[in-house]
Amino acid sequence: MDRYSLCHTESGLTLFDKTNEFKPLIIDFTQGESQYRHQRAQHEMLAKACGFTKKPSSVIDATTGLGRDSFIFESLGCEVTSIERNDILYQLLSDAIERLRQDRGLEISWQLIHADAIETIQSLSADNTPDVIYLDPMHPERKKSALVKKEMRILRDIVGPDLDAKQLFDAALSKAKKRVVIKLPLRADFINDQKPNIQFKGRSTRFDVYTK
Ligand SMILES: C[S@@+](CC[C@H](N)C(=O)[O-])C[C@H]1O[C@@H](n2cnc3c(N)ncnc32)[C@H](O)[C@@H]1O
Repeated sequence: MDRYSLCHTESGLTLFDKTNEFKPLIIDFTQGESQYRHQRAQHEMLAKACGFTKKPSSVIDATTGLGRDSFIFESLGCEVTSIERNDILYQLLSDAIERLRQDRGLEISWQLIHADAIETIQSLSADNTPDVIYLDPMHPERKKSALVKKEMRILRDIVGPDLDAKQLFDAALSKAKKRVVIKLPLRADFINDQKPNIQFKGRSTRFDVYTK
């Protein structure tokens, strides 16, 4: 964390990189869908993979990160619980969700939890389990790292690889009511060598769907 500092600015809580390699990072959901419009195809694929195109339902986003996928779930009308264990990201997300609340001027039912998702999911009682558990763990760095977007590189630098993704997947599979969806690099191996029931493939990533 020595390299980074969190400061309140006029725009909201912002992460500064003291080496200036990365420009300041702020999470902002108030621009709504418009700022994400260029990724519409990817969003539609995520909605389909989670089974939310006809009917939004309850979802745990167990790997919230910068909250982009959680925000899509929220925009679709889902009951969203987002879990993030990294302290810096949790603070940035918490501030961004509060600004969204103020911007909309009404309550939103988006819940953010600062915890390890494996423990949180394992401790869910039967009447508290969501329909869908969504996972997007940090993958080991690709060779063409220069091509990875800056936002992703700073995220990678703060968080590092998620080495316990397999345990998280097991926990999710044991608790989700309807399905577990995991986002993976297009050519990655199946998680835990387990073949999914359905796959949705994009240009560089795919969603593996495990139905129950
Ligand atoms: C690749 S990022 C997710 C990006 C995210 N889908 C988005 O739309 O911005 C992975 C994130 O999941 C978090 N994470 C991974 N495993 C976790 C766990 N077991 N509990 C809580 N957070 C976890 C990491 O700290 C990291 O911020």
